[in-house]
Amino acid sequence: MGASHLILAIETSCDETAAAVVSDDYRVLSSVVASQASLHAQWGGVVPEVASREHVTAITATVAAALSEAAVLPGSVKAIAVTAGPGLPGCLAVGVATAKALALAWHRPLVAVNHLEGHLFSAELDGADVTYPAVFLLVSGGHCMLVHAPQRGTYEVLGATRDDSVGEAYDKVARELGLGYPGGPILDRLAGTGTDTYALPRPMLGAGYDFSFSGLKTAVRRTIERGDVDVPDLAASFAAACMDVLLGKLKRAVEDLSPHSAVVVGGVAASPILRERLRTELGHRTQIRLPDLRYATDNAAMIGAAGWWRFEQSGPSPEGFGVRAHLPLG
Ligand code: KG4
Ligand code: ZN
Repeated sequence: MGASHLILAIETSCDETAAAVVSDDYRVLSSVVASQASLHAQWGGVVPEVASREHVTAITATVAAALSEAAVLPGSVKAIAVTAGPGLPGCLAVGVATAKALALAWHRPLVAVNHLEGHLFSAELDGADVTYPAVFLLVSGGHCMLVHAPQRGTYEVLGATRDDSVGEAYDKVARELGLGYPGGPILDRLAGTGTDTYALPRPMLGAGYDFSFSGLKTAVRRTIERGDVDVPDLAASFAAACMDVLLGKLKRAVEDLSPHSAVVVGGVAASPILRERLRTELGHRTQIRLPDLRYATDNAAMIGAAGWWRFEQSGPSPEGFGVRAHLPLG
């Protein structure tokens, strides 16, 4: 493949050091993710200072692996894309500094990418196609929001969480149940083996497009404190409450806006429970799009696709761009 069609992407916004090589038609030539999860497990959550130091340790080997797996020589990329925000500032700084150094050494343009827009592009990798107008449900550890995109690259945030994200609630409930860290995927797997028998609240289900998950988390804690819980059943009840809210709001957005497709992205989009319910409950109303499992959680391939889009729309980012911990979408 010609050098003019490849972008090198770098992602370090949280606890995954990631690099990827992506072509201009969003095909992934390589996607390397070095997870720090086992390191943070001892504290039961991401420790920002530890995470940024670990990025420094892992970043060069991760970039080198992405280039060699794609069989691409260092200089034969057209541009470099990097996550500039939102995320942990010290973590973002490692990726941005690395990308700037490579851009300088290789004389290549640099594209600053919004991590949230990266997640939205995760469903368009490797030949998958999102048809617009689209409604996106972004459900990750750091974010929970509903977004209307009348066309690719144009966003209107319909609603977002007022407290915890759904992934955060999964992780906290998993910790209460002693399931370890990161607990979201473990809790979700356990939920698949239980039955929805505990009556848990469906917070804000009837009210607009905003979300709230902290009350649900507290309700689970109270149930645990009462003692003698059936863990798989409680996990199933919690998952059912989360999914009722997520799918209820997504369904309403599809009814209100009649998009061509409904797209669910972010770490929680890896949930088999969510994927199954989405297809059965919404599949007849609109086209359903989901990222490949390996692109649901944080990765650099999605940053590469969003990077191509931004580069083609508006060219390189200004040289002096820095990290933006609270960068909004759009
Ligand atoms: O997108 P992501 O990797 O990071 C952020 O940008 O935040 O999402 C990570 C989140 C974690 O909270 C994790 O517990 C959750 O996604 N997650 C899951 C599953 N896999 C990851 N939650 C429910 N079910 C899963 N299978
Ligand atoms: Zn993310």
